[in-house]
Amino acid sequence: MEGNFRYSNPTHLYFGQKAMESLKKEVEAFGQTVMLCYGGGSIKRNGIYDNVMQVLQAAGKTVVDDGGVMPNPTIEKLREGAAKVRDNKVDLILAVGGGSTVDYAKGVSVSAYCDEDPWQKYYVRQENPSCPIVPVGVVLTMVGTGSEMNGGSVITNHAEGMKIGKVFRDDVFPRFTILNPEFTFTVPQRQMVAGVFDIMSHIMEQYFAGDGDYTTDYIAEGLMRSLIHSSRIAVRDPRNYEARSNIMWTATWALNTLLKCGKGGDWMVHMIGQAIGAHTDATHGMTLSAVSLPYYRFIMHDGLHKFVRFAKVVWDVDPAGKTDEQVANDGLLALEAWMREVGVSMHSAELGVTEQNIPAIADSTFLLPAGYRHLTRDEVINILRQSL
Ligand code: NZQ
Ligand code: ZN
Repeated sequence: MEGNFRYSNPTHLYFGQKAMESLKKEVEAFGQTVMLCYGGGSIKRNGIYDNVMQVLQAAGKTVVDDGGVMPNPTIEKLREGAAKVRDNKVDLILAVGGGSTVDYAKGVSVSAYCDEDPWQKYYVRQENPSCPIVPVGVVLTMVGTGSEMNGGSVITNHAEGMKIGKVFRDDVFPRFTILNPEFTFTVPQRQMVAGVFDIMSHIMEQYFAGDGDYTTDYIAEGLMRSLIHSSRIAVRDPRNYEARSNIMWTATWALNTLLKCGKGGDWMVHMIGQAIGAHTDATHGMTLSAVSLPYYRFIMHDGLHKFVRFAKVVWDVDPAGKTDEQVANDGLLALEAWMREVGVSMHSAELGVTEQNIPAIADSTFLLPAGYRHLTRDEVINILRQSL
């Protein structure tokens, strides 16, 4: 383990088919006015909206409606939501949806009483809030981002061609989250597998870094094996509760700050994926799947020992009679085969990336120190070309 760290996570989780029974008690701990944030209407079609409204009514709450949060939420929408919180003196923001709705709710919570431009302060300058923060609660309906138990908030600014994530401190984490795996049964298959790859990517981003012997890497390997196993069941049988509940739990632990303890991370797949998202508005998990193999094949030699371990431990590659390079390569071939099996996007051209917009996407990519190699802009361009 490296460095010194503080670990705490303030989010109360309620997991399982009866998790909603805890919503009333949680909302009662906050003031009178609740702003109900949701997306484009899936919760009205699958009954979750009615379910939540019944609880809010039984708790005697005044409800401010805030629907229409789009996938990849925009800064314009965030500004509208912040004004609504101020105008209605909202006491609790209840996000009912996937990562987009939850990320948006967190952005609104720190922007309502912010006297500076939130885009510049939080996302561009990466500062922390210095104003009152409106508490956020969550009923999760789509699995993948881990936003239900972290401080992440990813916002898109189309005018500037930027999609930027801010990881807020734990005073912005959701105060509580309801996780009922059955709520994810109606998620379309394409979104479900995009979420599965997002989870895998969160784990890999934190795994492919460092040269030490880290407890968190052993945890990461277990999470990856569970995810691979359950995703294979879920794509064939989407209403399989055991598989969907395992995927939901893995998603939360993949990005709730546990795996980053005591080691560095990589995050370049997310940096390139987010830049693709800024220019194409493509589904987040698919932007990651399209660039992962070109990226990992490019950096494999820089972190060879880790790619060998990944092959052996996560994919059961037999190393007998093979060089380290062959073993590492076999691990990436196994990853590729699984990606094709679950059905994620393998080509960024499907998502709107073209030879023409690659330079602009590279300009929108933040070049982090990363795990095993610090990429240059030209290397990002090459990875994007190979992803087409
Ligand atoms: O908008 P509605 O109508 O609700 O439909 C949504 C949306 O179209 C639909 N959906 C959600 N639950 C459903 C459902 N449809 C039927 N039944 C249900 N139960 O699914 C679609 C996608 O939803 P969205 O919230 O956009 O997906 P996801 O959870 O993947 O969130 C993506 C956003 O999270 C950010 C991404 O960049 C992206 O903007 N991320 C947030 C992170 C964080 N907070 O830590 C980290 C991630 O790396 C990621 O960047
Ligand atoms: Zn992600």
